[in-house]
Amino acid sequence: MNKPIALTPPMGWNSWNTFTWDINEKMICEMADRMVEDGYLEAGYEYLVIDDCWSLKQRDADGNLVPDPEKFPHGMKWVSDYVHEKGLKFGMYSCAGTHTCAGYPGSFEHEFQDAKKFAEWGVDYLKYDYCFKPRQIPGEILYKRMSLALKNCGREILFAACNWGTDGVYDWIRSSGAHTYRSTGDIQDNWESITNLAISQMGKEPYTGNFCHNDMDMLVVGMHGASNDGFIGSKIGGCTDQEYLTHFALWAIMGSPLIMGCDLRKASEETKKTLLNKDLIAINQDLESRGAYVIKPLPDVYNENEAFTLVKPLADGDLAIGIFNFSDTQRELSLEFWDMGIPYAAGVSLALHDCITGEELGEFTERFAPVVPSHGCVVVRAHLVEK
Ligand code: GLA
Repeated sequence: MNKPIALTPPMGWNSWNTFTWDINEKMICEMADRMVEDGYLEAGYEYLVIDDCWSLKQRDADGNLVPDPEKFPHGMKWVSDYVHEKGLKFGMYSCAGTHTCAGYPGSFEHEFQDAKKFAEWGVDYLKYDYCFKPRQIPGEILYKRMSLALKNCGREILFAACNWGTDGVYDWIRSSGAHTYRSTGDIQDNWESITNLAISQMGKEPYTGNFCHNDMDMLVVGMHGASNDGFIGSKIGGCTDQEYLTHFALWAIMGSPLIMGCDLRKASEETKKTLLNKDLIAINQDLESRGAYVIKPLPDVYNENEAFTLVKPLADGDLAIGIFNFSDTQRELSLEFWDMGIPYAAGVSLALHDCITGEELGEFTERFAPVVPSHGCVVVRAHLVEK
């Protein structure tokens, strides 16, 4: 049986982080090639998503959205066929408001017509933004509309809502029908942005799960400042490979969709190693999609949010454990098993598999206290064993 859509967080690639407005069919097809040839599809990255700026600024006489013929001379069905022939799924972008964030036509009051058009083009995933929303209409209603339109358009389409965590989205998004929902403002390619987004979603673990995943925004792994948009990339940034790995581990364990954003044609070996880390992907794709809970060390030992542990219970009884050090110095960080429900008297120890190095670390009782690099993490998969 095929896995139902959005059972686990979607994985793929999106054009926005690196290319923003500067997109075209040649680049999209090259990215599709890379996704297959470099092993991303095999690792689980199946959606190739075209973000904003793909259409003309006006709808046609029948009210249809029109792909920009300079960027997409063969039209969207042609691009979608190319993507599908590679074994990938095809994603597009629209907006709940009158215009998209970059000022192209939005789907407001064209929801059912646009959903049909997307189905005709072979779309499998729709990212749905929140700019230019008419003030008098609650966003909740607009996401419900598009969700219904997509469910009834004749094609199975994953619905990726994107209202940046505003308007109480946690309370209504699951029942709106969306499969993922952006809970944060736009990511930028720097360490501060990554840590801010992660911290903002800690403690929100009740609000993610199968078929409706908390989306902390797309990955900046491997961008190294290479974006044509100063806001996201070049003017502010880039990260070290260590920081990108920590970013990937956070998104993986917190259950966010893993949507790559770097130019895959230029990805370094280190970038590929991070994006293709099988153990981290397996944690993200665990079938039960449980949110990760946070264990914080005593507040008088570290500054707030400088060091903490995330624990995600997995379907087979293992625990995924990420120990994070956001501080500027290497630290020994101690995790007490008591905090995960394992008292010493239980007679249980944990066999730890290091998800970053692939090593078996052996069996631990009562506590695990690794040395964690600055801006780094240690992620283990813990298997319970009787002593
Ligand atoms: C918003 C979204 C981004 C991107 C842009 C496109 O800012 O949050 O992810 O889609 O719009 O304009």
